[in-house]
Amino acid sequence: MEDKTSSEQVQLWRSERHTEYHLRQFREPYRSTIHLIQCVRHVIGDHNIALRALDVGCGAGANIFHLGNALPQSRWVGIDIAPDLMRVARELIHRAWAPGRVQFVCGDFFQTTRILPNLTFDLVFSVQTISWLPAYEAILSELMALTAPGGWLFVTSLFTDSLVDATIQIRQLQGPEFVAEGPFYYNIYSIDRFEALCKALGASSVQVTDYLIDQDIPRPSHQHMGTYTERLADGRRLQVSGPLLMPWKVVAIRKESS
Ligand SMILES: C[S@@+](CC[C@H](N)C(=O)[O-])C[C@H]1O[C@@H](n2cnc3c(N)ncnc32)[C@H](O)[C@@H]1O
Repeated sequence: MEDKTSSEQVQLWRSERHTEYHLRQFREPYRSTIHLIQCVRHVIGDHNIALRALDVGCGAGANIFHLGNALPQSRWVGIDIAPDLMRVARELIHRAWAPGRVQFVCGDFFQTTRILPNLTFDLVFSVQTISWLPAYEAILSELMALTAPGGWLFVTSLFTDSLVDATIQIRQLQGPEFVAEGPFYYNIYSIDRFEALCKALGASSVQVTDYLIDQDIPRPSHQHMGTYTERLADGRRLQVSGPLLMPWKVVAIRKESS
């Protein structure tokens, strides 16, 4: 299966409702971003050291902003295909950060090693992106190539402990009719297969944590995709969107030292 992002998917990410999703994150980090920051701090230990960091599919840069504030000596590159989001990112972060601390590149992340030749990073991030691609093999190989020996790659996405790779395409309906956008992927990948591929691509260790949200999210008034939570008897919350459970995991992948 070809991995690349469809033009319809890119259009969706450029739409107004997605820009609002990104702007909200700037104002207040999502719980998932706070959890990611805790995972990063846990694995790297000293967070007050100089680090070169890259966010692949960075949207409007809110994760860069919050992670960068938590890692005060980090310097960043963000890459995203949506020019409108890059414009928002430049405006918001450049206002808050020292000049030169972050560079935003508008381009196709499948070409990152060509766009940023001979560059590797201590920290590489792919946040909430690979489940929305047709498949992850090509981008994972690119992400591993961009991670410096001994560095860390963090991937947050929908993963299952089952030995199942679920390729899920959704189409939203307007009454009984399809809305004229999509279909879009919401893939849920086998964590075992993902781990095995990381190791084949040069990972020395792979640490996986479930992301369980600690806040209730009400069910949206519409019947389309949109995350809400349901409580289990033991108090844990399941995240649900449309007909799907959203089993988020954070995967921290250490690239072997050369
Ligand atoms: C679901 S959003 C996640 C954004 C951000 N990481 C976050 O967590 O808020 C996926 C992002 O990947 C970007 N993207 C998708 N395909 C891409 C590609 N081929 N090259 C660069 N960016 C891409 C989209 O424009 C979008 O901003």
